[in-house]
Amino acid sequence: MNKVLLLGGTGFVGTHVCEKLARAKLQVTLPTRQLSHAAHVMMLPALTVLQADVHDERSLQQLVQGHDAVINLIAILQGDEQSFEKAHVALAGKLARACSAAGVRRVVHVSALGADARNPDGLPSMYLRSKSRGEQLLRAAAALDLSVIRPSVIFGAEDKFLNVFAAMQQVLPVVPLAGAHAQFQPVWVEDVAEAVVRCLQQSPHPGPIDPTYEACGPDVFSLKQLVQLAGQYSGANHGRGRPVWAIPDALARMQAMLMELLPGEPLLSRDNLDSMKVPNVATGHFPGLQALGIRPAALAAIAPAYLGHLGLRSSLMDKRKTAGRAT
Ligand SMILES: NC(=O)c1ccc[n+]([C@@H]2O[C@H](COP(=O)([O-])OP(=O)(O)OC[C@H]3O[C@@H](n4cnc5c(N)ncnc54)[C@H](OP(=O)(O)O)[C@@H]3O)[C@@H](O)[C@H]2O)c1
Repeated sequence: MNKVLLLGGTGFVGTHVCEKLARAKLQVTLPTRQLSHAAHVMMLPALTVLQADVHDERSLQQLVQGHDAVINLIAILQGDEQSFEKAHVALAGKLARACSAAGVRRVVHVSALGADARNPDGLPSMYLRSKSRGEQLLRAAAALDLSVIRPSVIFGAEDKFLNVFAAMQQVLPVVPLAGAHAQFQPVWVEDVAEAVVRCLQQSPHPGPIDPTYEACGPDVFSLKQLVQLAGQYSGANHGRGRPVWAIPDALARMQAMLMELLPGEPLLSRDNLDSMKVPNVATGHFPGLQALGIRPAALAAIAPAYLGHLGLRSSLMDKRKTAGRAT
């Protein structure tokens, strides 16, 4: 194993995967829709960044040529039926065909907890159904030596999950919360990235069923508990966090619909609410990170260090304001 094609390598997980591949001294090709998206990884050794449209089948086939393996991290969290189909299903099909044409067997595909490749139609959200169909297509490609990783929600210094809830609590007196009772088993981004690299370096799987791993942390939380912890870790309200008010489902859907009407990516869409109907915790039907020799880090061991900076920043601002008033 020497040359790896990394799809979606500029994102949250991808950045950590890039660093680990560089440390493993592998040569990495990273296509991106826009070169500026790769500015933060551009300086890594043995990394070739290029602008490409991976949805164009011919471009994808050219990209795959000459590599020993492909990692696929491309995904979207929000969109309509068509965009989920394009990013999660059609792309998986094109990738399977491109690998077959180029004779590339090793593929590591990051999916999501809650996906169910045996019964996509039974799932409640476009996100989960499309993730499941993407898995199905890759599994159907008999020549592939495939590993699938299904993470729960991922935390880390650059996450758009705990950071957002922590930032909210620096400015809002209370947090109105949709899906408050949804269950999660948050996993550290470094552990997910490590799992990707270990899957890549595993020897070919002998059995008829491609290995699937559930990437989860050691603890289960409700969304409400996670929001409360984000507030506390970030020092909001003198370390107590703000009160969190669970919004009833009907109101939550209305709130999500309004957010979807605003420009830009909504903080929460109706489809996200639908995804939360499936508990985002390990089913136990598949091996966890431990099977890859990874002992997943606890949220409490990692999140206070990076969320604490938010509180520090706002308490310095408070001090500056107070000092300003005193003079
Ligand atoms: N973050 C989580 O909490 C979480 C939880 C469960 C599963 N996952 C899964 O983990 C994987 C990585 O997630 P992430 O959080 O790192 O995602 P991310 O930060 O949003 O990055 C996604 C990457 O995909 C590329 N991309 C996005 N939309 C695209 C499109 N329409 N066409 C082509 N490329 C596109 C982007 O690359 P360019 O902009 O450079 O083109 C970006 O680097 C995904 O499969 C995701 O579903 C994540």
